[in-house]
Amino acid sequence: MHQHNPIVPREKLDFGLEGDIPKYWFGGDPFKTRFFDAMSTIFPEGERFFISCVRDFRDQVSDPVLREEIKHFIRQEGQHGIVHSQYNERLKAQGIDVDKLEGIQRGLIEWMRKYLPKKHTLASTAAAEHMTSIMAHSFFSRKEIMAAADPRMRAMYAWHAMEEIEHKSVAFDVMQKVAKVWYPRRAITMVEVTLGFTINAMLSTRYMLKVDGFSRWQRVKMFAKGLGWIFGPGGLYMPIFKHYIQYYKPGFHPWQGGQMKSYDLWLDTFNRTGDPIAAGEVLHAAGA
Ligand SMILES: [Fe+2]
Ligand SMILES: [Fe+2]
Repeated sequence: MHQHNPIVPREKLDFGLEGDIPKYWFGGDPFKTRFFDAMSTIFPEGERFFISCVRDFRDQVSDPVLREEIKHFIRQEGQHGIVHSQYNERLKAQGIDVDKLEGIQRGLIEWMRKYLPKKHTLASTAAAEHMTSIMAHSFFSRKEIMAAADPRMRAMYAWHAMEEIEHKSVAFDVMQKVAKVWYPRRAITMVEVTLGFTINAMLSTRYMLKVDGFSRWQRVKMFAKGLGWIFGPGGLYMPIFKHYIQYYKPGFHPWQGGQMKSYDLWLDTFNRTGDPIAAGEVLHAAGA
């Protein structure tokens, strides 16, 4: 068993999402904002899927520690879905058809749950959980990345990212110890999840910018610049590539790299103040 921080479900957090968050809350940048908004529309359905896929194996888990972790994992993911849905209401008010986006995703998920083996969808969950657990490094290990974001949105992603770290080994341990998924399936599902998530996020970003009334040419220019911000050197993905690629090592375990340095700062601030926005600010300011 790897030593790690306890998984703490935090409920009824107030990020001020009902407040005056600007439409383009990411420094007035439509592409960056809509890319994050696209992720927000993916999370609630995605997290319900993760919960179902882990639940498929819950009865076979005999380790009391892992059973307890599964319980907390489910509660954390449930809260993430609630908070993202709360934010997504804002998107609906901006004319984004969130129900349509979620409907498409639900169709795909229902298909996966019906036709793919349970071991496969659990492996997809473990892969997706690796992606969400390295999100903290992508968003918060360099201050400049989130510098222009609205502090409330930044705090919401900070909280989500920190809890993803806390529960990062749950689906993986169920996959390895209980479902005994063999390596090729683990690797293949990571390829599937990486492509699926990226394509989904890109298509949703494109759709939202279209709803916003940007012309085809404006969108082409935004994507040309935005893809550099996502995939280019110093962008969102490149600096976490070393974390990402570790998943393909046969002996990989989510905790083998240790804890993110600034996690303790976030946790201490949250525990001391009970204020998720203050905790988010501390995490962002640390940039480590
Ligand atoms: Fe989550
Ligand atoms: Fe998660």
